[in-house]
Amino acid sequence: MLVLAFESSCDETSAAVVRMGEGAPVILSNIVATQIPVHRLYGGVVPEIASRAHIEAISGITYEALEKAGVTLDDIGCIGVTAHPGLIGALLVGVNFAKSLAVSRGIPLVPVQHIEGHIAANYLSDPTLVPPYLALVASGGHTSLITVRDYTDFETVGGTRDDAMGEAFDKVARVMGIPYPGGAEMDRLASVGNPDAIRFPTAALPGDTLDFSFSGLKTAVINYLHNLEQKELPFPKEDVAASFTKTVVSSAMKKLDLAILRYHPTRLVMAGGVSANSHLRKAAEALAKKRGIPLSVPPLSLCGDNAAMIAAQAYYNYMAGIRAGADLNASPND
Ligand code: KG4
Ligand code: ZN
Repeated sequence: MLVLAFESSCDETSAAVVRMGEGAPVILSNIVATQIPVHRLYGGVVPEIASRAHIEAISGITYEALEKAGVTLDDIGCIGVTAHPGLIGALLVGVNFAKSLAVSRGIPLVPVQHIEGHIAANYLSDPTLVPPYLALVASGGHTSLITVRDYTDFETVGGTRDDAMGEAFDKVARVMGIPYPGGAEMDRLASVGNPDAIRFPTAALPGDTLDFSFSGLKTAVINYLHNLEQKELPFPKEDVAASFTKTVVSSAMKKLDLAILRYHPTRLVMAGGVSANSHLRKAAEALAKKRGIPLSVPPLSLCGDNAAMIAAQAYYNYMAGIRAGADLNASPND
């Protein structure tokens, strides 16, 4: 079945056509129109600007996605769309666009939860992956440990109580003068810095909870930077990035390991924009190896927001009988 899908929850407008359910999935097109250069001017995503930019982009990238895939709307078996969570104005653009196409052409409409979409990116890159498994999802808006019991059966067993992992990367980067979103640049700096130069507090909450708090860690790094600034001392960017990254990664691995020991998963998955982080990927690979559990992580092209991952989850939702009508609404909540 060919799935046409849309993603517009934050600052990327994306449309994709993916062949699902006939052997290994095939991404026929996955067009991503990023708004990052626009939001960079403001140091973060401006919701109103995001909504407008989605409206400007969505029609054009839909034609592009269909053309690149070499198909027309007549070939599409279902239309998937991110319906929640995200910026409400941004989500509404994708939802209304998908709804108009689906209703006018009589194509089934399937809502997708954004985080479930991130997880489903792994079905596209690893055709051997089947539930059940344990997933660590880290993005600009979410950080969760999720047991995936089946394609449409998820249970969040841990997560952040305040800032998301990507948000912490971006906020620390911003104070260091790195343009939004600073996660990828922090990754590069961390590779050349000394991870043991500075001690920062862990983001893994004490005890047997599977929860994190990235806000305290973020504040500790920002205070460290402000302190040096007040004394007019230069700060070692690379060492701060490396020490911060080491703390983030060890915090994530601590709770991931605790979840492994608690739930005994036979497979592990990472997903979300921050799963592009080379240090996090290496640490997860090492932990998976230590525990003898196979790990799936998407290629860099499928870590960030894209519609191909939404198409993958839309297919499984469709197979589970999940449908939406013309009354489909978007929601900012999980
Ligand atoms: O999943 P995503 O594209 O959007 C959301 O759903 O939020 O994730 C974006 C986040 C941003 O915070 C960005 O800085 C972060 O992922 N990110 C990274 C890296 N690449 C992207 N964080 C750390 N290291 C990276 N290499
Ligand atoms: Zn995302």
